[in-house]
Amino acid sequence: MKILIIGGGGREHALAWKVAQNDRVTDVYVAPGNGGTQTEKKLVNIPLDPLNFEGLATFAEKTNIDLTLIGPEAPLVNGIVDFFQSRNLPCFGPSMAASQLEGSKAFSKDFLKRHKIPSAEYEVFTDPDQAKAFISQVGTPIVVKADGLAAGKGVVVAQTEREAIAAIDDMLTDEKYGQAGRRIVIESFLEGEEASFIAMVDGKNILPMATSQDHKTRDAGDKGPNTGGMGAYSPAPVLDEKMSNRVMSEILIPTVEGMASDGIPYTGFLYAGLMIDSKGSINVIEFNCRFGDPEAQPVMLRLESDLIEHCMAAIEGKLDQQTAKWDPRPAVGVVMASNGYPAEYATGDKITGLDEISNPEVKIFHAGTEIVNAGETVTSGGRVLCTVALGSSISEATKNAYSAIKNITWNGAFYRNDIAYRAIAREHETLSE
Ligand code: AMP
Ligand code: GLY
Repeated sequence: MKILIIGGGGREHALAWKVAQNDRVTDVYVAPGNGGTQTEKKLVNIPLDPLNFEGLATFAEKTNIDLTLIGPEAPLVNGIVDFFQSRNLPCFGPSMAASQLEGSKAFSKDFLKRHKIPSAEYEVFTDPDQAKAFISQVGTPIVVKADGLAAGKGVVVAQTEREAIAAIDDMLTDEKYGQAGRRIVIESFLEGEEASFIAMVDGKNILPMATSQDHKTRDAGDKGPNTGGMGAYSPAPVLDEKMSNRVMSEILIPTVEGMASDGIPYTGFLYAGLMIDSKGSINVIEFNCRFGDPEAQPVMLRLESDLIEHCMAAIEGKLDQQTAKWDPRPAVGVVMASNGYPAEYATGDKITGLDEISNPEVKIFHAGTEIVNAGETVTSGGRVLCTVALGSSISEATKNAYSAIKNITWNGAFYRNDIAYRAIAREHETLSE
C-alpha cells in the first residue's frame, strides 16, 4: 500500500511514522515533510505545498496512492477532501463544509448552541462600535476571537476592557488578521483545566483516541504568549474513564449526530478542546478538524493498533467495528523551539546531539527541520523538535523525555522545563492518598 500524508510538522512525522509500521504499507509520501520524515524508513518527502491541490491530486493519481491523510487545517478548510473525492482519490478527512467547525468560530458557536452542547455564552460582531458597547456592558475577563483561521493567534483572553477594545480594533478596524478577523466572536471567560479529546469519526461512528493535554503558552507556569503548543502528554489525568464517558455523551455524540442531522456529516479526526471546571462541568472551547500538534506525538507513540486499518474502516463507515489499543504507559512530549518563537526566529542553525539517543522508549519527532549538505540537520521553523518518551508513570515519562533532550541543542534552542506539571501533581496526590 502507498500512503500520502499532507503537511510537514511534528504531527505529520508522528502520523507517517505510525502508518509505516503497517507491514502492507510499502511507501509513505509526506508533502512536504521535514528533516525527520526524510530520514525515516519507508518515508519519502515530496516537495509539494499542502495547498497545491492540483499538484497533490496529480501526484496521488500517478503514484497510485491508496489513502491520503491530511495533517493541518488550512487544506481541509479550503476543501482538499472535496477536491480529492471529485478525482476518486481515497482520503480520510472532513469536507470543506464540515471543516467549518474549525474554520469559522461563528459557525461552530452557532452549531453548539443549536444542538445544546455546552460552551461559553457568546455574541458575533462585525461592527466595532457594537462590539465595544457589548464589552462595556458585560465587563472582563472576556475572550475576543477572530472568526476564521489565524494560525493559532486569533484568540485574545482580555483581562481588562482596554485589552478587549485593542483586540476588537486589531481585528475589525485595522484588519490585522485579514479576512479571518472581519467577523469576531466575543465569549465569556471559562475557568478550569483544558484537555484535548480527539476522535476518529466516520460520519456516524466515533472511535476515541487516547486523551491528551497540551501546554499552549510559551513560558513555564502556562505564562507568556500563545503558541501552537510547547509540549503534550497522554493520557490526560483530568479525563479519567468517567469523565471520558461524559465527554462522549455530552459533547462528541451530540456533535456527530448534530452535523449529520444538519446535512453535513463529519468524517475525519475531530478534536474537541475542552475546559473542565472545579465542579466537573465540561465546556467546549473550540473544535479542530484535525489531529492536535503536539498531541499527536505522544498519542501516536502509545497507539498499538493499526492506524491504517482504522482509517480504511472509517472511510467505509465501519468505525463501529474497530477498537483502538493503547500502550498503558503514559507518554510525554517536550517541544524544542527557536529563540523568538512564536514571533520572528532564525532558521538554518545546525542541530547537534540528535544521534545520541538509542532508548526504544524515546522518539524524536521533527517539525521545523531540514537536511542540508552532507546530511546535516538544521532548523527551518519555530517549533523544531518534539521529543516523546514513555514511562511507567507520567513523572517517569517526563524524566525520560527531559533526559533524552539534554544533549540536543542549537544556537537559540529553548524549551519549557515544566511540561506535564499538572499531571505530575495529580499523580503525587493519588499516590499519597
Ligand atoms: P482557541 O483557539 O479557541 O482554542 O483558543 C486558544 C486558547 O485560548 C485556548 O486554548 C484557551 O487557553 C484560551 N481560551 C479560548 N477561549 C476561552 C474561554 N472562553 N475561556 C478561557 N480561555 C479561553
Ligand atoms: N495543540 C493545539 C492544536 O493542535 O491546536
